[in-house]
Amino acid sequence: MYQSTIESNVISYSNSFPVTFSHAKNATLITEDNEEYTDFFAGAGVLNFGHNNSAIKESIMNYLAEDTIIHGLDMSTTARNQYFDTVAEKILKPRHLDYKMMSCGPTGTNAIEAALKLARKYTNKKNILAFSRAFHGMSLGSLAATSAQFNREAAGVSLDNVTRVPYVDQFPSVKASLNFIKFLLSDDHSGVDKPAAIILETVQAEGGVNVAPKEWLQGIREICDQFNILMIVDDIQVGVGRTGSFFSFEEAGIVPDIVALSKSLSGFGLPLSVLFFKKELDIFEPAEHNGTFRGNQLGFVGSQAAIDYFVDNDLMEDVKSNEKIMQHELEKLLQLDPRIMVRGKGMIWGIDFSLIDPTITERVQQECFARNLIIESAGSQDAVLKLLPPLTIEKEQLEQGLNIIYSAVREVISGSQNDIL
Ligand SMILES: Cc1ncc(COP(=O)(O)O)c(C=O)c1O
Repeated sequence: MYQSTIESNVISYSNSFPVTFSHAKNATLITEDNEEYTDFFAGAGVLNFGHNNSAIKESIMNYLAEDTIIHGLDMSTTARNQYFDTVAEKILKPRHLDYKMMSCGPTGTNAIEAALKLARKYTNKKNILAFSRAFHGMSLGSLAATSAQFNREAAGVSLDNVTRVPYVDQFPSVKASLNFIKFLLSDDHSGVDKPAAIILETVQAEGGVNVAPKEWLQGIREICDQFNILMIVDDIQVGVGRTGSFFSFEEAGIVPDIVALSKSLSGFGLPLSVLFFKKELDIFEPAEHNGTFRGNQLGFVGSQAAIDYFVDNDLMEDVKSNEKIMQHELEKLLQLDPRIMVRGKGMIWGIDFSLIDPTITERVQQECFARNLIIESAGSQDAVLKLLPPLTIEKEQLEQGLNIIYSAVREVISGSQNDIL
């Protein structure tokens, strides 16, 4: 009753989706009035394993049934130790990744803060190369690497020590992008201070679903080696299976120096973030980067069950077949208007209306909501509709959701034909 009077103006998703949700299962959100919505948003990439994944929930409920440790900072606990063992055995070892792991404060932005600090400490350099349309978080260090003007202005202080470079999709070719970066790093009149690290997302999610070709990722790895720069992959939104492998960079066959994971890592929507880095980077003194909630025990328990779920099920096969369905269905939109651009990888896809009119996106989003589909927008001017269903969604529900998008786009485009043609 008091909620509407005391709630701050800062909320945003309640404005986009003006109903009250009370329950959820897999890819379905249910309101207090028992209305069902298909979830193509998945908590901004937190719910890769679906809402209330039964296997993960069971592990957490079993853990809660006894008086186990719920808060433990980074003390040695059974849950923590078992979790680290599971990650080593089931994630790192099969991929031949010889990483150290650190649990950070529970949000993604804290893992990025740790990554940037670590890179700066290790190299004794301040500058970081980050990309246009990048999203790395809202705390000051990571915000300096984030590109969105609206969020940057809210900082109220200068956001320094980052050199901004256009992402690969802004260049005519992969080679042109790599050559530009090489020029920045090698020309003594480029005006760019030699950076500690290059930080990137392999698929820019908040930036409008911009997919980096694997040749570009390989080229960045080579540049980092050539110029003695650390490569940081922010896999917070597109890691944990979203693109078809546990880490999104696996297809490129590269090993970043530092990798940040969060969002879907706990498998259940519980806050958890970790940083992986090469062993020689293990140079933080005890507690040099710390945080009260850096050992979220329920997050560990959930994540351990999620890793088991990942290993025991053919989830990546599902992602690959769903990728084909999504691409096939979304490309039908081009028949409605050839200026619509569709791009994606695995189970993250974007529909870009910027060549027609960026305001179409919000109208399509509202039409989807009216048809009981929850979906978000992203990118410059919010012109991209971002599809992010749980990886565990049933095929039938996935197809229904894609049909809803088609009819919503058709409705909006035909409704505004006079304005936009
Ligand atoms: C790629 C990426 N990095 C970092 C973050 C920040 O994570 P958090 O919101 O948990 O701080 C996000 C959040 O959307 C993200 O998508």
